[in-house]
Amino acid sequence: MRVLGIETSCDETGVAIYDSEQGLLGHALHSQVALHAEHGGVVPELASRDHVRKLVPLLHTLDFDPSSIDGVAYTAGPGLVGALLVGASMGRALAWSWGVPAIGVHHMEGHLLAPMLEESRPDFPFVALLVSGGHTQLVQVGAPGHYRLLGESVDDAAGEAFDKTAKLLGLGYPGGPALARLAERGDPQRFRFPRPMTNRPGLDFSFSGLKTFALNTFQAHREEPNIEAHIARAFQDAVIDTLIIKCRRALKETGLSRLVVAGGVSANRMLRSRLREMADELGVEVWYPRPEFCTDNGAMIAYAGCQRLLAGERGAVEMEVKPRWPLADGVG
Ligand code: KG4
Ligand code: ZN
Repeated sequence: MRVLGIETSCDETGVAIYDSEQGLLGHALHSQVALHAEHGGVVPELASRDHVRKLVPLLHTLDFDPSSIDGVAYTAGPGLVGALLVGASMGRALAWSWGVPAIGVHHMEGHLLAPMLEESRPDFPFVALLVSGGHTQLVQVGAPGHYRLLGESVDDAAGEAFDKTAKLLGLGYPGGPALARLAERGDPQRFRFPRPMTNRPGLDFSFSGLKTFALNTFQAHREEPNIEAHIARAFQDAVIDTLIIKCRRALKETGLSRLVVAGGVSANRMLRSRLREMADELGVEVWYPRPEFCTDNGAMIAYAGCQRLLAGERGAVEMEVKPRWPLADGVG
């Protein structure tokens, strides 16, 4: 089965063709980072309009024969409603005109299945740590479509906390990678930030307090040389420590020995090296998508949609997007 995938949930337009026999046949991405940078964050209306402008030209770069396509998958949620509607209407229209089924895919399902696009891929079951700009979740994955939410952030997602802290330190948008670079020059002993929600049982996360902690520290020590780097380091150490503590707990509670880490924050080098240490100690295997599929992309949507279509699922005829859509709901 050959599936066209379309991703437009936030600030990247992504398209891809995935074939269940031959693997990934092509993919293309247009990032809106430059468009939103001058506003210091994603402006939803600008995002929708840019998806409208870029989606068709991007599809043309894929250079495929429409008659070879057996289905169309698009991100139906969660995400920005206007942005989602662009991909959904295009996906539905193409599927209708080609006489093939269309299916709305959960964005986080895309992220957690992204490592399956590689030749060397994890076996099921595994624990997935999803760390993106919109979500922080630990999910027990039994098989495609079988997900149990173990824990999630009760406020800011990890990436969102990186971005907001970066902003208050005067770094540009998106701030995550910039903050991570700055942290490398910071002294890890200078400040110690809390590890939120690690003293009590459970697998939920809360990162919004760290940004306030960073702000208060910044205001109290504004004159100190290199203060931004020290704060960046303390903040990053706190987020990563918290993620590691919860991953350990999730692996212990589920008794699983495979961990998939995906979403934009999984590109963080310090997080990866700490996960490697943890994995060596616990005898656990850690899997990541290739770097370009850690962040939003069309390939993960084409893959997830293909699995669902192969399982016989079909989207309803009406076009529906779900800006808020729990992972366990509708994919349980
Ligand atoms: O998965 P993603 O591309 O988009 C969403 O679905 O949200 O994740 C984007 C997030 C942003 O918050 C960005 O700052 C963060 O991932 N990010 C990083 C790094 N690279 C991207 N955060 C920390 N360290 C990085 N190296
Ligand atoms: Zn994402």
